[in-house]
Amino acid sequence: MNAILIAVTGTSPEPWERRFRTLAPQRDLRVWPDRMGDVRDIAYACVWKPAPGVLARCPNLKAVLSVGAGVDHVFTDPDLPPVPVVRIVDADLTMRMGEYVVLHVLMHHRFQRLYDAQQRARVWREDRQPAASAVTVGIMGLGVLGRHAADLLRRIGFSVAGWSRTAKSLEGVATFHGADGLDGFLALTDILVCLLPSTPDTKGLIDLALLRKLKRNGALGGPFLINAGRGATQVEADILSALDDGTLAGATLDVFESEPLSDASPLWTHPKVTITPHNAAASVPSALVRNMLAQIERFEAGGPLQHVVDPRAGY
Ligand SMILES: NC(=O)c1ccc[n+]([C@@H]2O[C@H](COP(=O)([O-])OP(=O)(O)OC[C@H]3O[C@@H](n4cnc5c(N)ncnc54)[C@H](OP(=O)(O)O)[C@@H]3O)[C@@H](O)[C@H]2O)c1
Repeated sequence: MNAILIAVTGTSPEPWERRFRTLAPQRDLRVWPDRMGDVRDIAYACVWKPAPGVLARCPNLKAVLSVGAGVDHVFTDPDLPPVPVVRIVDADLTMRMGEYVVLHVLMHHRFQRLYDAQQRARVWREDRQPAASAVTVGIMGLGVLGRHAADLLRRIGFSVAGWSRTAKSLEGVATFHGADGLDGFLALTDILVCLLPSTPDTKGLIDLALLRKLKRNGALGGPFLINAGRGATQVEADILSALDDGTLAGATLDVFESEPLSDASPLWTHPKVTITPHNAAASVPSALVRNMLAQIERFEAGGPLQHVVDPRAGY
């Protein structure tokens, strides 16, 4: 009883299994699809994009643990059993996302793509260099990841604004919330950083109409977009139009409407686009299995599960 199931797709279960065996050799560990054993024994499922219906096969399941911060990949299962779904909140993941956001904000702020192109053409020419304080980075999503990124960017000297679903108060950050707060937030923003979850409310939010509301006369000469949240929040055809008509000066995209990004996507070769393969903040077993075991052990000792997702909000 109280077996832990590892059910992942699109990534190998092997490093997760190895780490569980190292840290908890006494635990009964099962692996989807071939080694589920007697499914009545399975109490916990550690999942990434679990195949639909797999969790419903476990009648004594007590909790589903997402191996990532996002849980949209769990809620797509129409047969998801009514047990708590918890997500990862871990300093390792938060730090990785902070690195990614700072890297790409600075890349756009310091026009590094321009200097890369100039280097290839052996051009020695200095462009303008606005102060960080003259640039506002607007972060959509002031959750665990967004708040950490805001703090790092503020310490580098950027002006920082943030937008969330419910009202937030963060020192040194101009905060906005809800549909009513969105336009004011966008009007301030030179570099838009999206760290939103994928939910029915955020689907397709980053479209041409939204991008046209970003600050037009800012220190960078045009706004930039960085999306490291989820691809479902963006309309890629609109991002391409915005890049081509000058609405956007450039974009960094880590996530896409469909992943992996299709060979045929014009984003691959667009001169204003930087692409990374959904690795802004990787879920690394060496760091995160300890976190999941701690959740399970606390729960078995009678304590509460932490970071339980609200299924109605979807994050
Ligand atoms: N690319 C990668 O490698 C990678 C890695 C990890 C995570 N992610 C993505 O990053 C997302 C954020 O992670 P997190 O840990 O920061 O999540 P979180 O703590 O749950 O924060 C989510 C934030 O989004 C806001 N939000 C949700 N729905 C909204 C809406 N309709 N309108 C406005 N704001 C809304 C929330 O507002 P409230 O504060 O008002 O609730 C909250 O501030 C994850 O869901 C995942 O999709 C990507």
